[in-house]
Amino acid sequence: MDGFKKRLSESVQLRLSIVLSTAILIVALLAAVFAFVTAFDEAREMQDNTLRQVAALFERQQMTLSYSEHEQPIEGDNEESRVVIQYLADGARAAGDDDNSSPLPLPTTLADGWSTQTVGDEPFRVLVKTTAQGQRIAVAQEMGARDKEARESAARSLLPFLFLFPVLLLVLANLVRTLFRPIEVLAAEIDQRGEQELHPIDEGHLPTEVRPFVLAINRLLARVTRSMDVQRRFVADAAHELRSPMTALSLQAERLATVEMSSQAQERLMLLRRGIERSKKLIDQLLSLASAQSGAGAGVAMVSVHAVYRQVLEDLLPLAEEKAIDIGVEGGQDGLVRISEVDLLVVVKNLVDNAIRYTPPGGQVDLSVSLEHGEVGVKVCDTGPGIAPEERDRVFDPFYRCLGSEELGSGLGLSIVKVIAERYGAQIRFAYTDEQARSGLCVLVLFARVDPGRED
Ligand SMILES: Nc1ncnc2c1ncn2[C@@H]1O[C@H](COP(=O)(O)OP(=O)(O)O)[C@@H](O)[C@H]1O
Ligand SMILES: [Mg+2]
Repeated sequence: MDGFKKRLSESVQLRLSIVLSTAILIVALLAAVFAFVTAFDEAREMQDNTLRQVAALFERQQMTLSYSEHEQPIEGDNEESRVVIQYLADGARAAGDDDNSSPLPLPTTLADGWSTQTVGDEPFRVLVKTTAQGQRIAVAQEMGARDKEARESAARSLLPFLFLFPVLLLVLANLVRTLFRPIEVLAAEIDQRGEQELHPIDEGHLPTEVRPFVLAINRLLARVTRSMDVQRRFVADAAHELRSPMTALSLQAERLATVEMSSQAQERLMLLRRGIERSKKLIDQLLSLASAQSGAGAGVAMVSVHAVYRQVLEDLLPLAEEKAIDIGVEGGQDGLVRISEVDLLVVVKNLVDNAIRYTPPGGQVDLSVSLEHGEVGVKVCDTGPGIAPEERDRVFDPFYRCLGSEELGSGLGLSIVKVIAERYGAQIRFAYTDEQARSGLCVLVLFARVDPGRED
């Protein structure tokens, strides 16, 4: 019961349904009672009118009454609803007589007009009239039959309500459900959005009552977008501003290296230069992340994954050779992805850079393309330590780095990959290269395939 009360206070739909059904029920009941009473009264009025007409007919036709001893059945006659007419005084003679054709034992003292008289347990409606000739007549009918007829006729007037009430309830339930449907659709639509999809909600097809609420959400979305833009621009500007002094520092350090100095000073200088290199890399990655987030990739086109692999290998081959890592493209299968080439380059470069960095010397890095289920997979596998399943979500967080890694890095590489992948609706999957040994990382970025004709 408490659960129902809670739902009632929380659900406008439920409250509306209950209040409206109760209102319909009350109105229907009132209308039904009114209809019943009116129909009952009218039926009685008509019955009285019949008695009145019989009395008038008697007087108009100047009839004489006789009461037969042995009654013959008459067609259409019905004992219960029979109308009896008699001289008022004749009743006194017939007192105690059970025969139905005999006059009723009515008191001779009855005044003209309507009254109810009980004859042997049965109440009768009686009209007493004195004719122009001075005869006193009584027209009577049994109340039981009259009431039964009146009730039946009144009950028939209730039939429409019996149909109308359930129909109205069904219409109401359907109406309420239809009215609230746009809100459900809207919620589902918002739920499906990615965190970068901050475009305004289309409020054109929504009911006027919901529109202000959606407009308020749209205004909030606009504010969030603006504040995110400001933040991104700040990071991009800061990285940009840091770049020039860092380049100058790097140049100075290079020039310093040519100067004669003690081996101790040379060692310190080497550490300094390495620090400067790291900072330069961090700044580059920050810039790269900011540009990936702002979605400012150059024009989208059909890009060959192999072409991008080649460019990345050219750039990173020296790094691989330094560590004696066997790196190469596996299989001749190429795929086309609808993407900005710069974006795909950034994705592959970050993945291959990680693969080379985290794979111990003498290891292996394989690049390949998979074409399955209508998707193009960019796949980079290495023979390094891999990433444990429980850490696979966290490595996408900016600046997150797994513990125990000796490699220098910013922790931004996979964040950049994720931002770009999300922008193109691509999925990122991690696996071990060797599932049994739980080692080696295999990253698969799945893009929707655009050109199924080029599968060969
Ligand atoms: N190929 C890989 N093998 C093992 N660990 C990896 C690999 N790629 C990424 N990681 C782990 O994920 C973390 C985040 O990677 P990333 O975002 O590229 O940052 P960074 O490489 O600058 O540390 C890395 O610090 C590393 O611990
Ligand atoms: Mg990295």
